[in-house]
Amino acid sequence: MDHTPKSNSPVLENFWMPFTANRQFKAAPRLLASADGMYYTDVDGNKVLDGTAGLWCCNAGHGRKKITQAVERQLSTLDFAPTFQMGHPIAFDFATKLAAISPGGPSAGLDRVFYTGSGSESVDTALKIAIAYQRAIGQGTRSRVIGREKGYHGVGFGGISVGGLVNNRRVFPQIPADHMRHTLDLDRNAFSKGLPAYGVELAEDLERLVQLHGAETIAAVIVEPMSGSAGVILPPKGYLERIRAIADKYGIVVIFDEVITGFGRLGTPFATDYFGVIPDLVTTAKGLTNGTIPMGAVFASRKVYDSLMAGPENAIELFHGYTYSGHPVACAAGIATLEIYKEEGLLTRAGELSSEWETALHSLKGLPHVVDIRNLGLVGAIELAPRNGAPGARAYDVFVDCFNKGLLVRVTGDIIALSPPLIVEKEQIGTIVSVIADALSRAA
Ligand SMILES: Cc1ncc(COP(=O)(O)O)c(C=O)c1O
Repeated sequence: MDHTPKSNSPVLENFWMPFTANRQFKAAPRLLASADGMYYTDVDGNKVLDGTAGLWCCNAGHGRKKITQAVERQLSTLDFAPTFQMGHPIAFDFATKLAAISPGGPSAGLDRVFYTGSGSESVDTALKIAIAYQRAIGQGTRSRVIGREKGYHGVGFGGISVGGLVNNRRVFPQIPADHMRHTLDLDRNAFSKGLPAYGVELAEDLERLVQLHGAETIAAVIVEPMSGSAGVILPPKGYLERIRAIADKYGIVVIFDEVITGFGRLGTPFATDYFGVIPDLVTTAKGLTNGTIPMGAVFASRKVYDSLMAGPENAIELFHGYTYSGHPVACAAGIATLEIYKEEGLLTRAGELSSEWETALHSLKGLPHVVDIRNLGLVGAIELAPRNGAPGARAYDVFVDCFNKGLLVRVTGDIIALSPPLIVEKEQIGTIVSVIADALSRAA
């Protein structure tokens, strides 16, 4: 299959592409024109199997008519309405439906929903809520936030401050933050199936940071329960429980960033459910609307919400919000998305496929350059040894090779990350693995 665009290629100069080597891409673009089910079609009519749910977001696959129709209906009924000192029913309806599946179930009480426009906005919103909450309960000296090395929490100033990826941080100023060590440990955990056995002690870093900075300066700790963007890094067994316990001991708010794990990725509605560890705030986006209309949501516990509902009733409780918080069209897309998830059992389907997925991925062990394989739910990573003097180049070549053979994968450094739509069929899992195996056998 030749994917070099021959036709329908637009002028490429003007769009400054995000997280992209613009000049390299524009010299040899990969342009997708349409999508349906598990497949994209590129501008030249070639089909590309979606191994990444777009960008970890199209959990119900592509071209879902129910969402299209809901969006069409909403656009022609109420295209936009403000949510500052105003409201519209669908924003409340969607929040009620989200509350019904909220992370951790009813006993967790994470059923107060703050809308945003993206994952990055959800993260900055959650950090601000945590700091505002601490102040509301008389802990106004707590403004530092703790993240983790290799964490990815989007690109807002809050998110890059708690994030742990050097290229996203080095150029920009940051809010007061510090970082625990990451949990990737190839020496002890390479080729683990599911959660790695070693590394629970890394959670003690939170205690060390408390000793370093003083608990009275720390508002919150934020972690991805399973870190996706940095190359699928899993929490060692018992790690999240330990983070929760230390945070409780020192009055630190726990934020789970579930922008990737939310909405079924691990085989439960949220990673919070999968691990049975209950945070105080949960950030989401992506799968919230099946990637169709940009939207994020922060689930806040009643404890946090109620603490901020103090003061005079005519006073705004949180000076924060976006023009598009609760956008009616995004809410319509979100409600239709939740219906599809429910009708098709997609919030638990990853659990049904995960052992097949695990076996298929681990069959790549022993192929050239493969130094680790990681999996959880319907997420996978294949880590390659870097080529001498050219980190990232080998995995990038595999990515291009796979695309040319009709499979979309994602690369971060020398890691190939996989997160197919939750509608993936077993046969397609086989295709994903065999295309990657072929590409690896060709990789220099
Ligand atoms: C865990 C996590 N948080 C936040 C974000 C940022 O989301 P967005 O790109 O929608 O701003 C991402 C995006 O991949 C993410 O994986």
